[in-house]
Amino acid sequence: MLQEIHSLLSLLNIPIRFVEKPCEVKPYWVVELPSEECVKKLASRSILLKNCIELWSRAKSESQLHQNLKLALENKSNQWIISDGKENGNSDGDICPSSLIVACRPVEKSFKVEVETFCKHFSMKEKVEKIEKFEYLAFEGPVKLKNPDTMLSYIEFYGLDPNNVPEQPEDLFFGRWVADGQRDLIQFHSLKKRQFIGNTSMDAQLALIMANQAQVRGGDMVLDPFVGSGSLLVAAAHFGAYVYGSDIDYMMLHAKTRPTRVGQKVRAKEESIRGNMQQYGTRSKYLNVIVSDFSLPMWREDLRFDAIITDPPYGVREPTEKIGIDKDNYTLTEEHLLNHVPAKVDYGLVHIYRDLLNFAAKHLEIGRRLLCWYPLVREEYREEQLPSHPCLKLVANSEQVLSRLTARRLLTYEKTMDPGCDSLANGDGGEHNFREKYFNMGEATRQERKERKAAEIAAYTLRKAMQNQTDVT
Ligand SMILES: C[S@@+](CC[C@H](N)C(=O)[O-])C[C@H]1O[C@@H](n2cnc3c(N)ncnc32)[C@H](O)[C@@H]1O
Repeated sequence: MLQEIHSLLSLLNIPIRFVEKPCEVKPYWVVELPSEECVKKLASRSILLKNCIELWSRAKSESQLHQNLKLALENKSNQWIISDGKENGNSDGDICPSSLIVACRPVEKSFKVEVETFCKHFSMKEKVEKIEKFEYLAFEGPVKLKNPDTMLSYIEFYGLDPNNVPEQPEDLFFGRWVADGQRDLIQFHSLKKRQFIGNTSMDAQLALIMANQAQVRGGDMVLDPFVGSGSLLVAAAHFGAYVYGSDIDYMMLHAKTRPTRVGQKVRAKEESIRGNMQQYGTRSKYLNVIVSDFSLPMWREDLRFDAIITDPPYGVREPTEKIGIDKDNYTLTEEHLLNHVPAKVDYGLVHIYRDLLNFAAKHLEIGRRLLCWYPLVREEYREEQLPSHPCLKLVANSEQVLSRLTARRLLTYEKTMDPGCDSLANGDGGEHNFREKYFNMGEATRQERKERKAAEIAAYTLRKAMQNQTDVT
């Protein structure tokens, strides 16, 4: 979440002050932003942000929360009254200016109070009782459940452990709702409803987050050089970018691979990346996709992209291949040239990422970003072994756990300068044989399971034998 929000704040040029340090075990932040307009701008882009409220009271107990609000009605200054030298909104006893509340009270303004509880369910009746306790705020306008002028938000946080829910909430918040984030887009772009998908199509939420972390803006030109079914292009185009893709797999780009959906026998005629763009109303943003091997780039030397967003092959669900032949001095005869389908050789992960970083260093605009996923075995992870390049700064790095043993990392690089003739990506992180390790691990876990089963059977047989023995004696 931090990475997405930071990327957007820097994209939108909005400063932030954390009133309370963000904490992994709390699903909320208390922050100060310059204006309501800034909050709305941020929320209009963020996928991970649920909503933003203008905080009027925050406390560790219900009685304290109400006491703060009652005192706030008497605070005629335009400043927060800070209880014990801490920052506003952070401490139990901070009092907001009455002007925040009074502005929402006039008779002509409709309102509604929404109650949200984390980790504990309340019936509608209980929620209404909670709402009625705010009567002293004396809102004069009518209650309107749909599109009220003011939406008030009351939140009770009971922790994150559903097996250990405390009697009383740990943290309580009350304030004015300002904006919702863009979570609805996850449903709108859901792969379930997308015309054309492949076996490795990127989940809609992750694709949108990637576009945000890549700081995609309207009019940008964005490339995915391992485009597959084009999920990352869909997300970038949604935020207004013109999108290009390339992939070595002719069948995939022409939607001639076996259908991915269970029960579907043949692909429909409309299935294509272009068709997906049509589906989401971004057809005008689609430049093209080209069948091409990334190890043999075909782009003009001076072409620059505003972002490169990609998910290279890991060799698990799709092969890591490039055009080539193992034989020495192989030449094609004239007669075979026309209909020749080139042979392929293995394209190791170290080489893929080295090529990708060199390509980005050359073809990105300065200050713009490369985003890519990087698979690894969790216990072998060392940050210093991640792919690097002297012209690319790693600005974000977050883990998505895939299994007990494996993960992939979303790496965000920012181009800091143009490469000189000797600035190349590092390649001395050793061979990165994710595929081999992945399948060996599969073998190991299968073996482990077999051995565990055998041990369980042996223990059971022994127990039974001993039981029989006791029965006999
Ligand atoms: C993980 S998939 C990308 C999936 C894509 N993000 C999507 O949403 O469908 C990796 C893609 O890389 C392609 N690929 C593999 N080797 C390649 C190469 N040498 N050059 C270009 N593309 C390659 C594969 O055909 C595959 O479509």
